[in-house]
Amino acid sequence: MRRKLAAGNWKMNGTNAALAELDRLQEAAGGAAEILICPPATLIAPAGTRAGRIAIGGQDCHAAASGAHTGDISAPMLREAGATYVILGHSERRADHGETDAQVAAKTRAAWDAGLTAIICVGETLADREAGQTIDVIRTQLAGSLPDGGTGANTVIAYEPVWAIGTGKIPTTDQIAEVHGFLREALTARLDQQTADAIRLLYGGSVKASNAAEIFAVDDVDGALVGGASLTAGDFGPIVAALNG
Ligand code: PGA
Repeated sequence: MRRKLAAGNWKMNGTNAALAELDRLQEAAGGAAEILICPPATLIAPAGTRAGRIAIGGQDCHAAASGAHTGDISAPMLREAGATYVILGHSERRADHGETDAQVAAKTRAAWDAGLTAIICVGETLADREAGQTIDVIRTQLAGSLPDGGTGANTVIAYEPVWAIGTGKIPTTDQIAEVHGFLREALTARLDQQTADAIRLLYGGSVKASNAAEIFAVDDVDGALVGGASLTAGDFGPIVAALNG
């Protein structure tokens, strides 16, 4: 059985005052679903000290453990600060920083080496979808971004259509089912069945309280990666509740 995961990506939002949301979220944390918050790097350590049953994660890491990489943060640093997860290959990293699949794979290996669970993001652009390329794009991103050695413990895959992120637009449940079904198939083709079945698949892109239950009812959707609606417990709590069913 895959444990459901409600993952919040705060992106570049939040200073110390935002940590009060973690306290407010504790109430939602008693259910079956795991809750994860990925705050900005500056808040990982203080978030860790008051996270309670909420897991804390980073939003990116460097592929090297240390070195001359001004402004970057390494996987062992995230781990030491209290993170147990790290989001990798988010479309904003791919777009803003030109991250390639090979770089995401290298970062994933670094995350695993540091004992972090990698949440590897894949997703098509609107142009990809309109050109009928969605599955091809996802296939290429997954093959290139997931190194050998993925397990249910060290890997989560997030399907995030780029056009659905922060736009209020979401794919139909059939479109989500198609991609998630393909991801499960592709994992099964590459790994043994038991390992592939243990890897959680998240949907991300404009998830909110009003659409969460419908999305969570789709086959092979094991939770969500949520941006805007994860910033307050008032918005995120009902999404967690929808996942708890
Ligand atoms: P959104 O972001 O929920 O604000 O659309 C999702 C994400 O980028 O992970």
